[in-house]
Order: sequence, then C-alpha cells, then structure tokens
Amino acid sequence: MKVLVVGGGGREHALVEALATSPLQPEMHAAPGNPGIARIAQTVDIPTDDLVALRNYAKDNEIDLTVVGPEAPLIGGIAECFWEEGLKIFGPSRAAARIEGSKVFSKELMRHAGVPSADFEAFDREEAAMAYLRTRTRYPVVVKADGIAAGKGVTVARTREEAEGAVREVFSGRFGAAGERIVIEEALEGREASIFVMTDGVNILPFLPAQDYKRIYDGDEGPNTGGMGAYSPLMWMEPATYAATLEQIIRPTLRQLALIGASYTGLLYAGVMVTADGPKALEFNCRFGDPETQVVLPRLESDLLELMLATNEEDLAGREVTWSADKAVCVVLASEGYPETSSLGDEITGLADVPSGVYIYHAATEEKDGAFHTAGGRVLNVVGTGSTVMEARARAYAAVEGIHFPGMQYRTDIALEAMELEEL
Ligand code: AMP
Ligand code: GLY
Repeated sequence: MKVLVVGGGGREHALVEALATSPLQPEMHAAPGNPGIARIAQTVDIPTDDLVALRNYAKDNEIDLTVVGPEAPLIGGIAECFWEEGLKIFGPSRAAARIEGSKVFSKELMRHAGVPSADFEAFDREEAAMAYLRTRTRYPVVVKADGIAAGKGVTVARTREEAEGAVREVFSGRFGAAGERIVIEEALEGREASIFVMTDGVNILPFLPAQDYKRIYDGDEGPNTGGMGAYSPLMWMEPATYAATLEQIIRPTLRQLALIGASYTGLLYAGVMVTADGPKALEFNCRFGDPETQVVLPRLESDLLELMLATNEEDLAGREVTWSADKAVCVVLASEGYPETSSLGDEITGLADVPSGVYIYHAATEEKDGAFHTAGGRVLNVVGTGSTVMEARARAYAAVEGIHFPGMQYRTDIALEAMELEEL
C-alpha cells in the first residue's frame, strides 16, 4: 500500500505520522512535504497547485491513495483530475469544495438547508453593499470576501465606517476573483469550536472537536494569523450541544449538497459559534483544520488509513472512531515579524530530543548542512499530550522552552482557559 499526502505544513506532518502508523504499513510519500515529514516519508518537490504533476506522480509511483491537506487543490478540482485516471483520492469534488471556495455559495446552501447561521446579504457591486450598510442600524457586522483571500478576507466591523472600509477593500481588486462578491452578515457572539466529520456522502463519522487561537498575541490581541495554537477536546462543549451541531448543521448541509448533485466525501470541517441560542455555523472548510489536526490526530486510536479507504468505498456505515482519553495542547512557534512578514533562514536548535508525550510537527522549516532553519511564518507546532489539560499544557510549554531560534514568538495562554475549567 502506497499513500501520498499533498501539502507541506504541520497539518500534513500530523497526517503523514498518523497514516504511517497504520497496520496496513503504508509506504508514505509527500508532495512537497517538509524536513520533518522527510524523516518518515519520501518527499517530492511538486507544488500543491500543480494538479497534473501530482496526478502523474501518483500514477507513475502506483500510489493507492492520495490524501489532500490544503483547500486550494480541492477547490481547484484535484479530485476530478485524479478520478479521470482512475486514481483514488481522499477529498471532495470541486463542486462540493465550493462550500469553502465561495462564501456566497456556502451561505445560500445553509439558507436552503435551514442550517442555523448568521443572517446575511450578498452583493456583487460596491454601491449596493454601501447602500445596504447605510440602512443597517445594528453594528458590528461581518464583511467577507466571497473567495479564499489568504485568511485576510473576513472583517468583524464594529462601526459603519469600518464596514465601509472593509467593503471598499474587498472590491478594490486586492483579492482578485475572491473579491468579486461579498457577504455581509450579522456578528454572532459565543465560543468558537472546530468540528470535524469524516463522511462518505451519506454516513458521518464525527471526530473530536477542537479550538484554535487565531490572534497573534495573548488574550486574543493583535492581528489574525493562520493559527497560533489549539487544544482538544473541549470540556466546555456539552454533549447535547455537540449532538445538535451534527443534527442541525452537519447533516442538513450534507443532504443539501447531495440534493444539488454535489455529494460530499472526505473530511468536512464546520467552524461553529456556540451562542446563547445554540450552535450556529460560521463557515465550512473542505479539509482538516490547521493547527487543530495536530491536537486531534495524536489521540486517534482507530486506523486513519482504513477510515479514509472506507470513506472512498462509501463504507462508513456502522464504523466507530476510538480515541485515547488524553488531552492535547498545541503551541505554534512563529518567526520574527509574523504575521506581517516572516524571517527566513534563522537556525533552530533543540529539536534533537523530543520528550515523552510530546510531538513536534514541522510547519515551515528547511534543512541545510545538517541543521534546521526557519522557512516561513509558522515554523513549528509543539504538541503536548497528557491525562489532563494541565499536564498536556505543561509538557507542551516545557518542550517549547527547549527550542530556540532568533525572534521566536509564541502565545503563552494556549488552553489556559481549558485548564481553569478543569480545575473547577
Ligand atoms: P471565516 O473565514 O468565515 O471562518 O471567518 C474567520 C473568523 O472570523 C471566524 O473564525 C470568526 O472568528 C470570525 N467570524 C466569522 N463570521 C463571524 C460572525 N458571523 N460573527 C462573529 N465572528 C465571525
Ligand atoms: N484553523 C483554521 C483553519 O484551518 O482554517
């Protein structure tokens, strides 16, 4: 059995590691991978947007299953590209991946499916969006570019002026085709959770929920990032709330996708706001979350590869996922200047000895002359596991203390609130 993972970040490192432990003993490949992944997989330097080169690699190397990490290739149609050649791939079709690729599509789908979500209006002209803002009496509102805008397409605007600025920015052309349409929606209040389910289009296999931290600084201050940390499970999320998320958000969305001929297979990620009125959907993603995957997969006891193969065979009915009782906490180590810029080529020390209960995933590193160096904004993901959040957190931060590179920055409050809840 040969398996190819597409992508080269911390999420893909966690995926490669989880797949490599399968009793099916797969030979692991990754494109492009990273120096951490290269320790456990054969890596090949193909960028994630070169769908034809990825397909040719899978064909030439007789890959049995390809697993896609990032959204862009899925939104670009990598699944169809592989299916044309009879190759197996874990991930949704281009039609189903629109649930992440277009906010307008996703909001309209939710409306038709009766999924609880923020009220919204969609616009394809700046003047119409501005006129709407003038009629609106209640602020804040959330302004979203329709397409994928490198995590910069969403603004929670406290005032009309701020909202107008965000609308102008989206229509300025700065986001390309992603900014041709816009969604303006009600701001929801509550706690956010990332919900993952594996689905063959009909059956769902829920994974454990996780929480990520999007802001750069402690206390959720500063600009948004790709994610500065995560923890799982969520002790604050009642089982009834989780069940309501599956029944009111996930299932109707999958039914609606099937109804419009865009049946979803793969991993569906719902970003959910748990409000005073129950869970409401914020957004959908067509792939695993980053860095949430890094706190979910280390605790998976079931065989991830077998589950992915079963997804493709539409054979998830009656299956269960088993988890260790451990908690997991991920601290992201970012380079100097992130998120505005990132410092490259700084030498990283302290990676040789990984303490027990700790996983270190490479997110943006390169190896030169036998040493690791920074190669992007989010450099490493340090995950601690333990029987309590306190233990998992202590292990993660103790491991962080042992790692150094110039300008290294990280949050010191990841899972702090979860630990406090645990103490109650
Ligand atoms: P999205 O890309 O839609 O997930 O938005 C990114 C982030 O913006 C979310 O993770 C939330 O923190 C925030 N956000 C998005 N939509 C809303 C909303 N309707 N109300 C409040 N916050 C939101
Ligand atoms: N953690 C947010 C995301 O993966 O989109």
